[in-house]
Amino acid sequence: MNARAKRVIEKLCAKEFVSDPEFDSLLSPEHQSVSDVHWTSVEACRMAIKLLNLGPDDHVLDVGSGVGKAALLFALYSGCRVTGIEQRAHLVRVAQDLQKHLRVDGVRFRAGDALEASWQDYTVIYLFNPYQEHLPDKGTPKLDQKLNFDEALYRAHVLKTKAQLADLAPGTRVLTYYGFGGHLPHGYERIKSRVYQSGTLTVYEKQGGVVLK
Ligand SMILES: C[S@@+](CC[C@H](N)C(=O)[O-])C[C@H]1O[C@@H](n2cnc3c(N)ncnc32)[C@H](O)[C@@H]1O
Repeated sequence: MNARAKRVIEKLCAKEFVSDPEFDSLLSPEHQSVSDVHWTSVEACRMAIKLLNLGPDDHVLDVGSGVGKAALLFALYSGCRVTGIEQRAHLVRVAQDLQKHLRVDGVRFRAGDALEASWQDYTVIYLFNPYQEHLPDKGTPKLDQKLNFDEALYRAHVLKTKAQLADLAPGTRVLTYYGFGGHLPHGYERIKSRVYQSGTLTVYEKQGGVVLK
């Protein structure tokens, strides 16, 4: 590890602010080159923490955690727990490696399809436009060419996401950044929203059920 990376790790371990180029210097050149599009920026993470008032009582599910940038920054800067589920196993290994270097507790990364996991045990669900790669005409560069992408699968993922969200307990919050491709299902209230660069961070909260007398 070079001296710059060591200094960045020291800063992050001390919970100091780092810039995106600093954080991304911990990644391979390949993963640095897609950071602008595919990984949540440091500033957007800080805004998300404020919007959600994230703290140690929270457990965030990062749906499609990539190299773990958002998950690790949420945990480092707020003390919350985070579970990141990522379909590309090699990115999970990158995230786990970063976690080791940064000595962050309370973060778990696992490989798999986040849509097939239970979303029930979290206080916050984070969706940073995870399925956009399926729509090549929108100009989003793919992370790699190893997976099959298509518009029908995109629509299926959006529908599964809505079904997962519809099933969550009242009080669960959902943070979207650049959306997820659909509208929140019935029962969610938009709580806060903040534009950052060309995207919008929006917090929704699942409302309580109707009490029948
Ligand atoms: C835009 S990146 C966001 C990465 C990370 N959440 C962040 O903010 O830094 C979306 C990630 O979601 C992953 N992904 C997409 N669909 C998924 C699914 N069904 N299950 C798990 N991961 C998925 C992609 O492989 C990609 O790494």
